[in-house]
Amino acid sequence: MNTTDGVFRYDARAKATGRATYAADIKLTGMAHAVPVYTRFVRARGLRVEVEAAKAAPGVLAVLVAADVSGQVRYGQIEPDYPVLAQDLINFEGEVIALVVARTRAQALAAAALVVEEAEELPPLLDPESALAPAAPLLRLGKKDNIVNHGKMRRGDAEKALAGCELVLDERFSTQFIEHAYMEPEAAVAIPRPDGVMEIHGSMQHPFSTRRFVAAALGSLLAGVEVFNPPMGGGFGGKDDTAALVCARAALAARAVRRPVKLVYDREWSMRESYKRHPYKLHYRAGFGADGRFRAASIDMLCDSGAYTSVTPWVNWRSLVQCCGPYSVADVRTDVYAAATNNVFTGAMRGFGSPQVNFAVEQLMDMAAERLGLSPLEIRRINMLTQDGETITGQKLDGHVVSLGQVLDAIVRATDFERKFAASSRGAARDGTLYGIGLALSYRGASLGAEGADFCSSIVNCQADGSVILDAAIHENGQGAESVQMLVLAEELGIPLELIRRQRSSTSMIPDGGTTVATRGTIMGGGAVAVAARELKSLMARTLAPKLGVESDRVVFRSGRVGVEGGPGLSWEEAVAAMFAERIYPYAFGTFRAPKVSWDEETGQGDAYFTYVYSCQAAEVEVDAATGAVRLLAMTAAHDVGRAINRALTMGQAYGGMVQAAGMALFEDLAVKDGRVGNRNLDRYKIPRARDVPDLRCILVENADPSSPTGAKGIGEPAIELMAPAIANAVYNATGLRCRDLPIRIDPKELS
Ligand code: MOS
Repeated sequence: MNTTDGVFRYDARAKATGRATYAADIKLTGMAHAVPVYTRFVRARGLRVEVEAAKAAPGVLAVLVAADVSGQVRYGQIEPDYPVLAQDLINFEGEVIALVVARTRAQALAAAALVVEEAEELPPLLDPESALAPAAPLLRLGKKDNIVNHGKMRRGDAEKALAGCELVLDERFSTQFIEHAYMEPEAAVAIPRPDGVMEIHGSMQHPFSTRRFVAAALGSLLAGVEVFNPPMGGGFGGKDDTAALVCARAALAARAVRRPVKLVYDREWSMRESYKRHPYKLHYRAGFGADGRFRAASIDMLCDSGAYTSVTPWVNWRSLVQCCGPYSVADVRTDVYAAATNNVFTGAMRGFGSPQVNFAVEQLMDMAAERLGLSPLEIRRINMLTQDGETITGQKLDGHVVSLGQVLDAIVRATDFERKFAASSRGAARDGTLYGIGLALSYRGASLGAEGADFCSSIVNCQADGSVILDAAIHENGQGAESVQMLVLAEELGIPLELIRRQRSSTSMIPDGGTTVATRGTIMGGGAVAVAARELKSLMARTLAPKLGVESDRVVFRSGRVGVEGGPGLSWEEAVAAMFAERIYPYAFGTFRAPKVSWDEETGQGDAYFTYVYSCQAAEVEVDAATGAVRLLAMTAAHDVGRAINRALTMGQAYGGMVQAAGMALFEDLAVKDGRVGNRNLDRYKIPRARDVPDLRCILVENADPSSPTGAKGIGEPAIELMAPAIANAVYNATGLRCRDLPIRIDPKELS
């Protein structure tokens, strides 16, 4: 096992040595290759696709268009609007108008150039404001407007409360499209099996979500599709809709040519077609008392949903819950709108609606503090949610430890914040550089919240020699989910990791445990394993108690032994053998059901999530006074994760999240012009490189969560939602310049 210094990754050796088999590595006898053909339009109607020449090209086995789709052409997680192959309308430049299947990829690519596309070109809608204008053309099939979503919060009387505030900040902020930039582009292999089942191996976050897309396209039963997820080279929320559509296209091709078909994306196809993080325009009026109390907020947000709906309403919902940061605010009016445009569509990305609002609200807190003569720490301490407080959705946080003070204190200590804040340059360069430190604070709901039914299952299956096969319905996305599940099982059963094998399950082997999203991997997947392990222990204790001569509730599982502390007992292996001798399988199926949550769509009030992760992050920057270039000096995180099950990997998530957020703050700029992505590769779409990454630190705050079977909450998304505002605050403290638009760009002419 690959265990060193508390790091456990059972799959590390295979990945580090190149032996792990990713979807693109799969080779099968007789396998054909598919490639997509993209539209040349951004917006058009009356699409006609001429495929005869392509069909006649060497090696070509089939060319598929929308008319060849046996099931639903259009499908989606919320709205069935995304066409697996373009049908009549072109809504963005990433539409796939045909799929060419040939014996080799080179033959498929050559034939793809022979597909002819005719359509009536239409002027595209390029921004959400124009999309909402009264005369705008309607982009959504069968709908009377371009409003993809409207989310609301109505709490008290914001206008009246603002009128009574000593300080009202009226500020606008904007955030940009963000590409997930996973290392591995989309890939899928579809195998039409003799038993009639379509088998899929693909790079995806969610096998069950993928299965819904594939079954819809094929017109098949869910049980007629079996999805496996091989190792995945990154997702970050981005391997859902597009990855599933790639699998669905491979399946359509495999059915048409009656042999296995592989469809592997290159980077440019991926960046052209795959959904991005939503760009937001945010208008805040935030009211404060002279005492620093954040008393009222009136907020309007507009985001670009692009060509299709994807999960935009759910993303907007998270923005609502977090629109005032982790603070108690009595009066709030918020409206968030999402508009359809002809830009690349937008969907899930790590953070899921919170990085945008945090960018606004965590700068507003610093701005208000300065105007009121308070420090960034004082204003946060005055307003942050406390144990007996109530969130802006009216939720009481009485079920777990509200640790905003702990994470804030941890950051203050670890960074020596007060001294460094006092030493920040505020526009006065020394030796040609300016120095600044800044921080940001958040609360974030773990798991799905009011988005959907939240439960997950696990199977613990002991073999006659005491080895154990573990299965769980939270999937490995490269984040270490399976390793966490193995650690939970080893701890629960009191057995060494060496006895456990994680089964790579398919959608046919375990019930749907929901998607691997929303900071729910550890709390739900680990929780399911703990519940299943406890079911197994209870079964074994009941069965073996007579043999041990003790009451079953005294039987404990510890250090490879099953029995009573200091009394009668069996080795783990003997205990398992004794179960078989009793003809009772040592096997358990367990389900962790998340506590119920509630939501009122009209008022935006309710118990939004069953628990929250509390986080604080700080950035230190140096700004070159001559060029305005911002250099990161240090990034520090403190997260209350509940309990860290795999310490080093938990910190690794924090490091990765901070670096990815630094990309949003300083580097990433998708050049969308006239609806076309101009920088479709990583040579021109800049993300942080190793040499841009400064000193990283993470402090884990652990208050075991009573609602979590393992005590663990999560880390995936809290890690990414704070660094953009922390950097913006640090840049302000260095330069005296407030950066309201992302990515941050400092004009050296504005520096004295
Ligand atoms: Mo995630 S952005 O909840 O896949």
